[in-house]
Amino acid sequence: MLITISDVLDPEAVRKVTGTCELLDWRDGAETAGRAARKVKNNQQADLSSSKGRALARDLESRIRAHPVFKAAAWPRRFSSLLISKSGIGDGYGLHIDNAIMGRNVRRIRTDLSFTLFLSPPETYEGGALTIETPSGTTSLKPKAGDLVVYPSTALHKVETVEKGERLACVGWVESMVRDPSQREILFDLENVRIEVAKTEPAEGLTALTLSKTVSNLLRLWADV
Ligand code: NI
Repeated sequence: MLITISDVLDPEAVRKVTGTCELLDWRDGAETAGRAARKVKNNQQADLSSSKGRALARDLESRIRAHPVFKAAAWPRRFSSLLISKSGIGDGYGLHIDNAIMGRNVRRIRTDLSFTLFLSPPETYEGGALTIETPSGTTSLKPKAGDLVVYPSTALHKVETVEKGERLACVGWVESMVRDPSQREILFDLENVRIEVAKTEPAEGLTALTLSKTVSNLLRLWADV
C-alpha cells in the first residue's frame, strides 16, 4: 500500500524543523547508502549525532508515530534511525532498492515500509519528485511540506534530479508488527470501517464490539510483537 498522509507536520512545525536543519552539519549522503545505491545517491545528509540533531530526530519520529493514519497503515514495531537529506541543483537519488536489513544491535530492523516526510514547499524546487515503481505502474509524488509518503520497501524507487531550488526531506524505515502487506491492508480497511461505524453506533453496541473483536483476533493471528 502506498499512501500520502497530509499534514503530519503543520506549517509551524515545518518552519521549526527547517530552521533547526540550518544549524546542523551536513555530509555526503553516499556514506549511508548500500553498495549499489551508493553509485546513484547524490545528496547531503544531516549529521544527527549532535544533541540538536538527536532532539530533532526524536521529535520527528514521535510526531510520525503518533499520527493515527500512520499507525493504522503501518502497525509499526520498530523504526530505523531517521535521515534528513538535502538535495540541491543536480542532486537526486537514482533508481534503487532499500536495504532489507538496516541498523545495528537493538536498532536492527527488517524494512517493511519506507517513508519520506517532505519538508520543502513543492513550489520552491523543480524536479525532486519521489518516483515509485508499483505493480500497477510508476507513481511520482511531490506533496506539500509536512506530508508523509509511506510505501512498501519492496518497491524500486528514486528521487528525480533537482533542477532548481533545494529539496529537504526526512526519510526512514519501519519494521511492521504485521509483516504481510495484504494483512496490513485488511487492518487498515477495518480501521476505516470502525471510524465510520463510530459515527452512528455507540461504542458499546454489538456492531462496534464485534468489529473490535474481529480486529483483536486478527492481530492475535498476524502480529509479531
Ligand atoms: Ni530509498
